[in-house]
Amino acid sequence: MKNFVRIFAATALVTASAFTAQAEEFRLGLITPPPHIWTKAAGAFGAELAEKSGGAHSVSVFPARQLGNEAEMLQQLQTGALDMAFMTVAEVSNRAPELGAFYAPYLAKDIAHAGRILRSDTAASLLEPLPGQVGVVGMGFGMAGLRQIVARGEVKAVGDLAGLKLRITPFTPILDFYNAVGAAPTPMPLPAVYDALANGQVDAIDMDAELIWVLKYYDHADTILQSDHMMFPMVGLVSAKVWAGLSDGDREMISELMAKHVDSTLDSYIAKEAGWLEQIAGTGKTYTKVDASFFGGAIEEWNATWSKKSTSLDALRAVAAETE
Ligand code: BEZ
Repeated sequence: MKNFVRIFAATALVTASAFTAQAEEFRLGLITPPPHIWTKAAGAFGAELAEKSGGAHSVSVFPARQLGNEAEMLQQLQTGALDMAFMTVAEVSNRAPELGAFYAPYLAKDIAHAGRILRSDTAASLLEPLPGQVGVVGMGFGMAGLRQIVARGEVKAVGDLAGLKLRITPFTPILDFYNAVGAAPTPMPLPAVYDALANGQVDAIDMDAELIWVLKYYDHADTILQSDHMMFPMVGLVSAKVWAGLSDGDREMISELMAKHVDSTLDSYIAKEAGWLEQIAGTGKTYTKVDASFFGGAIEEWNATWSKKSTSLDALRAVAAETE
């Protein structure tokens, strides 16, 4: 309930038009493919919203970048051309750098800990500025798994990553991390990743266990480093323009249901992460588990950079310590 109060307070920044027609068919975009946990959660959200609104509302889900990449979808949310999205916090952090604090290396000691951090009041408070800052209303956090490294060739020490073209999701905290590591971070959207690794356009990728396993990103690799170095949060968003035209009742129903379904992804990853990693380890590739010490001074360098870029880092570290 506390979160809803926050959301309502935050959206006071947005001027509501008393005569805006109430949307009945919402469009929700995401970049993940249909079988992905986020896409399934979006479908479940739409089904429950239709049921709870007695059929007044429906949600058409557009997966797999049908509406464009995340930067394009964020623009559409800002103009009201798109109603809703389940989006990587990575993309939103390009416009709201405070959110970069979630990517502090080893902020979470494991996937369940990441879930507890994302369910904290401190995490929820980071959504408050989004209506004014980005033109979207954040309903709550979900996530994908912790980040791992998949590489062609041998990687026995951090020095083996030096100069490697290493695919990253396009956002600054991860770029800073791999620059500190000494790799050559190569921003690349999800659909390009398999072929890029297969044809040698990149030497390595930064990825989560679900996609490494389900999309077979290990196929053209020799080494999997289970590094668990970062969490990868997702956020359920509604266009602030669309939100401004909704009745209080619709806002309450949408915020409750969207928060519930993005939150369900936390449970899915907590339950499934270990199984995917076990299956990846069984592929016959070199599988090595490493921890923070593997990355040498890179983590300290990242922390020094980001303590200046995000004032929320200390607060999230405090939550991490409390919830450990
Ligand atoms: C990625 O860019 O690696 C990614 C994006 C969305 C979901 C999972 C992973």
